[in-house]
Amino acid sequence: MTRRPSALHTPARPRFTLTRRLAADHAARTLRADVAAGLTATPKTLPPKWFYDARGSALFEEITRLPEYYPTRAEREILQARAQEIAALTGARTLAELGSGSSEKTRLLLDALGPGLRSYAPLDVSDSALREAGEALIRDYPRLDVAATVADFESALTLPDTPGPHLLAFLGSTIGNLDAGQRAAFLTAVRAALGPDDALLLGADLVKDAGVLRRAYDDAQGVTAEFNKNVLHVLNRELDADFDPDTFTHRAVWNAVEERVEMHLRSDRAQTVKVKALDLAVDFERDEDLRTEISVKFRRSALTDELAAAGLTVRRWWTDPQERFALLLAFVR
Ligand code: SAH
Ligand code: AVI
Repeated sequence: MTRRPSALHTPARPRFTLTRRLAADHAARTLRADVAAGLTATPKTLPPKWFYDARGSALFEEITRLPEYYPTRAEREILQARAQEIAALTGARTLAELGSGSSEKTRLLLDALGPGLRSYAPLDVSDSALREAGEALIRDYPRLDVAATVADFESALTLPDTPGPHLLAFLGSTIGNLDAGQRAAFLTAVRAALGPDDALLLGADLVKDAGVLRRAYDDAQGVTAEFNKNVLHVLNRELDADFDPDTFTHRAVWNAVEERVEMHLRSDRAQTVKVKALDLAVDFERDEDLRTEISVKFRRSALTDELAAAGLTVRRWWTDPQERFALLLAFVR
């Protein structure tokens, strides 16, 4: 008897996959290098990507709901107004997203792109954020495939091998967490990844009143302070360090020259912190700052020029009615 293929016997293809492109020892190796360099530099710094373990990702989600933190709401307003137009302009069949986190605002794009959209490819350093977002998405979008990747968007940027055109989203103004050199390298890699019919959808927070900016990064409930100090918990756990987070004070500083908010952790006293995995002793003076994040705020002409320098042409620039935040659509031609 010949066996005919039958739907009953075909194992269901998983609609949510999670691929780890970070080696198992990524945290061990890269975090070690970042911490060794950053804590021995003057001034002391740490890269913001280390905020986002499961607790850090959850704290960021809490930040997005704070009354003072306007960027998420402003960007959502723009997406609500423009998602249909973005769908029409791009005709995307694959949506890829960098630093996707909870993928909450992304749902507006998924809804607008509709049945023509075949797959969604989120990429993030946070395993927990990808898993939670992916499981919720396949529940709510029964025809969508979600192919998630745990990776660092600064070192591994390729588009999935799924049908084009591809729309590459980079929302939330996470681009502002990169300095000028990192942004240039990142945009060049984006340009190299995009094909002629593909597009970049970029969210960027805009320069505005310093008080509004400072409050957005130093909220009354202290959630941003906890988020900032979370990096110390990550170092304690991953590198056997002995930071006492209670001896550091969260600070949000508007740097008017660089037009960026900086998050700092200020040591309340002179102290020596041991990072046992690195065999490193780090001396902090009283009131010495450790800079944990920059959040650059943008102007239209300078950002358009940065994209042009990387070979990307801005075709649309939308803002929310209060002009706090911008969403732009760029193509390679
Ligand atoms: N796009 C979402 C989340 C923004 S929070 C929004 O707009 O609300 C920034 C996200 O980027 C986090 O989920 C964090 O884990 C991720 N991230 C930060 N640095 C990263 C890096 N170098 N590579 C990949 N993901 C990164
Ligand atoms: C993810 N990123 C764009 C946020 C920002 O606004 O720079 C992270 C953040 N830091 C403090 N609050 C939110």
